[in-house]
Amino acid sequence: MTTISPLIAGNWKMNGLFHSLDELTELAQLLTTGEAPRAVVVVCPPATLVAAVANQGASSGILAGGQDCHAQGSGAHTGDISATMLADAGAQFVIVGHSERRADHGETDAQVCAKAEAAIGAGLKPIICVGETEAQRDSGSAESVVNEQLAASIPNAAEHHDVIIAYEPIWAIGTGRTPTNEEIAQMHANIRARLVERFGERGESFRILYGGSLKPHNAREILAIDHVNGGLVGGASLLAKDFYTIISAV
Ligand code: G3P
Repeated sequence: MTTISPLIAGNWKMNGLFHSLDELTELAQLLTTGEAPRAVVVVCPPATLVAAVANQGASSGILAGGQDCHAQGSGAHTGDISATMLADAGAQFVIVGHSERRADHGETDAQVCAKAEAAIGAGLKPIICVGETEAQRDSGSAESVVNEQLAASIPNAAEHHDVIIAYEPIWAIGTGRTPTNEEIAQMHANIRARLVERFGERGESFRILYGGSLKPHNAREILAIDHVNGGLVGGASLLAKDFYTIISAV
């Protein structure tokens, strides 16, 4: 059986000014004074803070990630940022296809796939997000929706590179609601099966993160579920103490 080292990533979303790095300092202190974390720890701040997180986090093992990247390496794309630029700023990961980007910017699976490919090309590990709406879950189509997203959002390059999948049911994001443990177990087992179906043995080694109202009070039980190889944390990653509790729950 493949052993997967767990990973906990914080997604600060559009939160965080330079003073938010105080929380990062506190997290670094907690990580270096407490018991060594079992999980790989990643913080994905707004692009303006990627370099600062990479520099400031280095001594405590905190790795930096972006929240999105353009599918192209450079060019006339005002306001966008390339995967190479994120790597140049010190990022090692980048979230692609978050449901907020799919909703706010109309990103399609094909675009998400191209972004993931660009990330791999720049030496980053893409965290590819998938997840269903509440209506899709209620109508019994959660698995088929997620399976379609997986098939079209993961590039073939994953066969030879590390990619991370984040299952984030949209209705659980920022709501304080989560699927039941059984529902999470079922979806993660389904995702694992699809990865193995497509990538063979290699599909056993990709991390599958859970995201959506992952909090200090529910982290231990959710992170213990089979095929949950870590978490993608929004709100609770903004406070060092909460994020550290989640990291320590692995
Ligand atoms: O990417 C993480 C995210 O969407 C979950 O957010 O605030 O529900 O933990 P939150």
